[in-house]
Amino acid sequence: MTSSTHNISMTLNGEKTNALVEAHTLLIDFLRDAQNLRGVKRSCDMQICGACTVLVGDHPVSSCTMLAVDADGADVVTIEGLGDRDNLDPVQEAFLEFGALQCGFCTPGMILATKALLFSNPTPSRAEIEHHLSGNICRCTGYQKIIEAVESLAQT
Ligand code: FES
Ligand code: FES
Repeated sequence: MTSSTHNISMTLNGEKTNALVEAHTLLIDFLRDAQNLRGVKRSCDMQICGACTVLVGDHPVSSCTMLAVDADGADVVTIEGLGDRDNLDPVQEAFLEFGALQCGFCTPGMILATKALLFSNPTPSRAEIEHHLSGNICRCTGYQKIIEAVESLAQT
C-alpha cells in the first residue's frame, strides 16, 4: 500500500467486500472495473444524467462523482444487487409490466432512484415521483411509462 492507496471495506450487494483503491478512484470505476458490475452505467460523468446511480445506504448517489474511499464502511447496492432474472425486485417487475424501458441504458439508475424514493416515501404523489426522478435522464421513453410504473408501486 502506498500513501495514495487505501484499504476500504463495504457491504456490496449484500457481500462484505474489501479492496485496495487509489485515493482518486471514483466509485463508478471501482464498481465497473474492479467489481465487474457493468449495470452501473457511465454517460455524462458530471452528475447530470443519473445513469450511474447506485444506492449508498438508502440514498441514491451519482457514482461518477463519488470517490470509492468515501464509500468505505457503507452499504452499497447496484442493480445487480436487486432481483435476478428468475426473481425480480418489485420495481423491476413494474418497469417490465408497464414497458418503462426501451434501450435500457437509463434503467438501472432509474430503478435504483425509484427504490430510494420508495424507501423514504412509500406513497409518493405523481408530482413527487416526477420531482424525485428529474435527475435521471431517459432518451427513449418520454418518461410517461416510467412514471406510471412508479405510480403503480406507490399505490400498492
Ligand atoms: S454518468 Fe454519473 S450522473 Fe451521468
Ligand atoms: S430507455 Fe433508453 S435511455 Fe431510457
